Amino acid sequence: QTPALAATPPMGWNDWAHYQCNFTAQTILANAKALVSSGLAARGYDIVTIDDCWMQKQRDAAGNLQPDPARFPQGMKPVADAIHALGLKFGIYEDAGSETCGGFAGSGEPDGGGNDHFAQDARLFESWGVDYLKLDGCNVYVPKGGSQDAAYRKAYAAQSAALKALRHPVVFSESAPAYFQGTPGWYEVLDWVRGYGQLWREGSDIMTFNPKHPDKSRFHSVMWNYAYNLPLGRYQTPGNWNDPDFIIGGDGGMSLAETRSQLALWAMMSAPLILSSDVGKLSPTALHILGNREVIRIDQDPLGRMATLVQRTPTMDVLFKPLTGGDYAVAVFNRGSAPLAVDLSLDSLGFAAGNACSMSVSDPWTHATLSQQHGLKANVAAHDTAIWRLHPATGCAAAERTGAITAI
Ligand code: GLA
Repeated sequence: QTPALAATPPMGWNDWAHYQCNFTAQTILANAKALVSSGLAARGYDIVTIDDCWMQKQRDAAGNLQPDPARFPQGMKPVADAIHALGLKFGIYEDAGSETCGGFAGSGEPDGGGNDHFAQDARLFESWGVDYLKLDGCNVYVPKGGSQDAAYRKAYAAQSAALKALRHPVVFSESAPAYFQGTPGWYEVLDWVRGYGQLWREGSDIMTFNPKHPDKSRFHSVMWNYAYNLPLGRYQTPGNWNDPDFIIGGDGGMSLAETRSQLALWAMMSAPLILSSDVGKLSPTALHILGNREVIRIDQDPLGRMATLVQRTPTMDVLFKPLTGGDYAVAVFNRGSAPLAVDLSLDSLGFAAGNACSMSVSDPWTHATLSQQHGLKANVAAHDTAIWRLHPATGCAAAERTGAITAI
């Protein structure tokens, strides 16, 4: 893998969580333009990915994928060109099986006859100027009695090789682990994906509701994915990222507190930040949250470390993340439904107790910076997240940390 391809977690936009199959070229371009006009693109959200349903069920006589003419009457190239003309990158969706999850033409072989289209599709994507490929994992052919893990690995390895053979570098997002979540094979798949791509979906879709919990909110779906992703820090290094799915903050069904929480939690995990909403309809406050420079800087920190859960109560998670240059990020997530008064001592975070060191502590939400010797205080509303960047003063080096924190 080439770490330079996604040295920091990819950022961008994808239509799926908001539109599913209800989109046309206009929908995609309107969102691309809104990324630019809102200022989000300038903050780093610059990959525009078209998810499932863009293609027809059948390939053409030459075996090429065909964009759905009702959605893309001019084909795909003009859409890609328009996205590039906005200074953005162009991403597309395909599937490692014979059909996509929506039942359209997939890249994978249907029957073990070796008749897959990975290389052909990669060349077609290159002719359109594709910069990013999300390869889903529905309908992957598994030989009778064969190993599911081996079948997925073969398909993702083939697509990875096909992309590497192109002249233009393509960021490769793999969905394989998502198809093993909740099985022992999950960890084995998480072990091999980093050899083939730069990021991987490790679990459920973030949606309006979770079909397993139809009574639950969008935020429940966000918390679900957060909980699954958080223990996967060991799979992540710069250039290789666990992907807990879309940022739906700011969209209907997510409060502003929940929007802050999703962005802060994803940043603490150095997760890819891929918005999936109608960008033109995001409120100014939501845009302000999603575009927060300091939170994005924590997400994009060059160390790429995932936060450790260092304290947990029935309603509170405390996350701790080392940053480059000896800084740290701390976040307190209020999972409960009542406000939380937080008073977190620095020694509880593993900093040497009672020493004379001070550190400057900045709060990305309020832009306040203060010099602090004792602790972190905040009132955190229900479902909200407080986050701080800690910068130990000179002469108060990181070595002052006793490291006495334990992962939960
Ligand atoms: C799966 C993926 C989603 C989306 C849909 C498209 O569910 O996890 O992100 O790509 O397929 O059908």
